[in-house]
Amino acid sequence: MPDEAPAKIPTAKLPTEGNGNGIVLLEVQGLKKSFGPKQVLRGVDLSVTRGEVVTILGPNGCGKSTFLRCLNLLEQYQDGVVKLKGEVVSRGRPEGYHSSRVECAEAEHLRRRVGMVFQRFNLFPHMTVLKNVMLGPRQVLGKSPQDAYAIAERMLNKVGLWEKHPCDPLTLSGGQQQRVAIARALSMNPDVMLFDEATSALDPVMTQEVFRVVRELAAEGMTMLLVTHDMDFARDISDRTVFMEGGIVAAVGTPEYIFDQRPVPGIQKFLQRG
Ligand SMILES: Nc1ncnc2c1ncn2[C@@H]1O[C@H](COP(=O)(O)OP(=O)(O)OP(=O)(O)O)[C@@H](O)[C@H]1O
Ligand SMILES: [Mg+2]
Repeated sequence: MPDEAPAKIPTAKLPTEGNGNGIVLLEVQGLKKSFGPKQVLRGVDLSVTRGEVVTILGPNGCGKSTFLRCLNLLEQYQDGVVKLKGEVVSRGRPEGYHSSRVECAEAEHLRRRVGMVFQRFNLFPHMTVLKNVMLGPRQVLGKSPQDAYAIAERMLNKVGLWEKHPCDPLTLSGGQQQRVAIARALSMNPDVMLFDEATSALDPVMTQEVFRVVRELAAEGMTMLLVTHDMDFARDISDRTVFMEGGIVAAVGTPEYIFDQRPVPGIQKFLQRG
């Protein structure tokens, strides 16, 4: 497989720079990632402005989850650079590279700034909903119990679940658990939120509950990158849509550009797959 991304990526002229003021919040340049001999990301470039909602679409196995996981260093990548607010927050390292203590601390710091919500909610079952959300502010941000409680109360109210704060997570529905997971990610006051198919384990009613929360976050100006297989939602919520294929950004533009003009053949195929 060739190492280089195509020279020119179909990109719509943007009528909007997002909801924000056009300031680039997240910038990814030439990100490459391999698992052993298998190159999964072949040079991903993407800029996201403050307040922008970007959805990422693409066929199974094209590297969407891997891309998000690289952004908050759940996966180390081999080449390229990621910037937040113009500051380099991570860069590619050769395979087998052992991070220094300082680099590990920097990675930890980065993860606070990039919130992530997964398909599976990964709440701690032995802790109440409240404790799940207080944990990050307490242990990672070093907040006092009172401050962590106040943060958790605010975030659980935001996702409409404060009344569930004394409950065990497993007594909640899947949609409710996912909203707690969103509250938990928000409790770290991240610069950007990443969602990896956050609703694909949910039924349609619970999916709508979660989408409502995501829409509210978008209205509040949260910068978000969302991988989703829900095309209606993607079309509705996106400022821009990215189509990934073969480990690169194959096309990027407004949802109308991607869904209606279908600038690369892969999109046509992807959207027809039913
Ligand atoms: N830990 C791993 N070790 C080896 N290969 C992996 C690993 N994680 C992902 N891959 C491979 O990387 C490729 C991209 O996977 P990834 O999960 O990022 O795709 P995706 O676009 O999120 O797919 P889907 O739509 O099915 O979620 C796949 O071929 C997958 O098998
Ligand atoms: Mg995936």
